[in-house]
This record gives sequence, structure tokens and C-alpha cells, in this order.
Amino acid sequence: MDLKSKLEELASSSLEKIEQIEEIQEIEQLRVNLLGKKGQLTDLLKSMRNLEASERPIIGKLANEIRDDLTAKITSKKEELEEIALNERLEAETIDVTLPGRQIKRGQRHVIHQVMDDLENLFLGMGYSIIGGTEIVSDYLNFERVNVPQDHPARDMQDSFYINEHYLLRTQTSAVQPLIIEAHDFSTGPLKVISTGKVYRRDSDDATHSHQFHQIEGIVVDENITMADLMGTLEVMSKEMFGEDRDVRFRPSYFPFTEPSVEVDVSCFNCGGTGCHVCKMSGWIEILGAGMIHPNVLEMSNVDSEKYSGFAFGAGPDRMVMLKYAVDDIRHFYLNDQRFLSQFSTKGEN
Ligand code: DAH
Repeated sequence: MDLKSKLEELASSSLEKIEQIEEIQEIEQLRVNLLGKKGQLTDLLKSMRNLEASERPIIGKLANEIRDDLTAKITSKKEELEEIALNERLEAETIDVTLPGRQIKRGQRHVIHQVMDDLENLFLGMGYSIIGGTEIVSDYLNFERVNVPQDHPARDMQDSFYINEHYLLRTQTSAVQPLIIEAHDFSTGPLKVISTGKVYRRDSDDATHSHQFHQIEGIVVDENITMADLMGTLEVMSKEMFGEDRDVRFRPSYFPFTEPSVEVDVSCFNCGGTGCHVCKMSGWIEILGAGMIHPNVLEMSNVDSEKYSGFAFGAGPDRMVMLKYAVDDIRHFYLNDQRFLSQFSTKGEN
């Protein structure tokens, strides 16, 4: 077969192959096999040396045309295959907007925060202000300024997380008392403040103790504030928290920053006061400590204790929630387990 026929045959067989190819990789392979350095067409052209000089331009022209034609066909086939592949991909990746959405689980306010919010709202309604406080406080504010000097035995119960010699994680929200009392301008009216937040103690963690828990602190100072004001206020708070039918009982107690001091019990919401496992058969449940602010605390905050008097109380929302919902382990509050926490979702949440 002469070179011209070989060229024509290669051209027609290649065109046929190009037609049939369906994969992009194959078309690329064909291009290399035909037109590459060691390709079939390149090979044939090398044998042009053996042609008569007169034939060379004619065959050369034919060879060029065949090469251009094959190159163009290969390119357009490649584009065609690429377009098909793209369309297939687009098809496969289409998003079906009619599918139902994936449900996003909303969280809910932590049950302890729900209780603190509720109590804050109650006190806001009674004209109190809500004031924050820092969790890192000086030993001086946490203890000395609330009448717990160095070496006072009351420190032992709370001895705690010291950051250095003078600063610690507050052991009680009572640490907010000194500066709040000191800053108050009595010409604007009585001081009535609620402050809630976390406190820390060196407790060994067990079912009823956590090294971190919450407190709600109440402070009222004015002229002529008496124990009757304290008792009425705490009765309102206890009933709000545990229900209108609850009775409230005040027992004498001791706190360094109050005199006299009381502990407050509510009648058991589980048995109504007859005695059960929740109240350990006593009919009563202790919920907070309180008292008339000790004159030393007022004086250290530059308040004349002859003219002004006040009450304070400190309650533990963790304990209240445990009692109210019969939660048997305080650590549940801090494990972030949704199976536990979602039980306390409020309306509109979750
Ligand atoms: N700070 C006390 C405690 O952590 C609770 C307390 C008792 C706060 C009596 C008060 C109070 O303000 O008057 O145990």
C-alpha cells in the first residue's frame, strides 16, 4: 500500500474510532496514539523521506489536512464528552427543594436559669434592681467585709479556690453586698437589690454537693427595715417558687453577716407537711438563709447602723430545683445531657 492510501485509511479508521468513543480518557489516549511524538500519523509522516521529491508536497498537504481534521474532531469530541459529564454531574447534584427540611433541635434555657429568671422577675415586680457581680473577688470582699475576719471558723466551711493570696472564686453571692451597700445613695430611696450567679466551694462533689453552684442574693436597706419585712418578702418568694399552699417557717440560725439570723423552711410540697421521703419525715424543707444585716457590715460600708437597717437572704436555686422536680443528683445540672435538660423545656422551646 502506498503512503497516500495508508494515510487515507488511518484517517478514516481514526474518524470512525472518534465517533464511537464515549469516555474522556479514551479520547485523550487516542490523541496520543495518533498525533503524539510516537503516534501513528507521526510515524507515517516520517516515511515521507522515501517519497519522490515531486510527490512530497502533495502527500505533505494531504497529511497536514488529515492532521488538522483529526485534531479538530478530537477536540470537538472531547468538548462534547466534557459537556455530557458536566450535565450528568449537575443532574446528580440537584437539590430537591420540595424535600422536607431537616429539623433543627432548639435548646432551652437551663432549668436553673429559668428559676433564677423567674425569681428575678418576681423581685423586679417588687421594685428591686438586678445587679451582677464578678466571680473572682478579693478575700476582703468575700469574707472580711461581710464580717468574717481572718481565722473566723465560718471560713472553714467555704474554704475555697484561691487564685493567689488575695483573690479567690467567690464562695457566696454575699460578696456583692459591701460594694452595693457602699455605693447606694439613700437620698434616692431604699436599697433593694437582687444578685444571682455562680459560686464556688471546696466541696467534695457528691449527689448533693458540687464545687460550683448558684445563689440568689437579696439585699434591702433603708430606715426602719424590720424582721417583719424580711419575713413577708421571703413568704412571697417561697410561695412563688413552691406554690401558694406552702407554709413558711423561720428557724433561728447563725451567719456572721446577719444578726439575728434565720433559716427558712417551706412545708413539703410533696406530702403537704405530713412527712415523706422528700422532707425526711419532718414535713419541712430548708430553702435559704437570711437575717437582719449585721451592723458591722453596714458600718464597714459607711452606712450609719443607728439610722439604717436592712435584711439579706441567700438561696440556692440548684437545691430549689432539686426539691421541686425531685432531681436526685446535683451533678445532672452540669453534665449538659440533653436527655436530662430537655425535660425542663418551657413553652415555645424545643
Ligand atoms: N451566704 C450564705 C451562704 O452562702 C447564704 C446567706 C445567708 C446569705 C444569710 C445571706 C444571708 O445574705 O443573710 O451560705
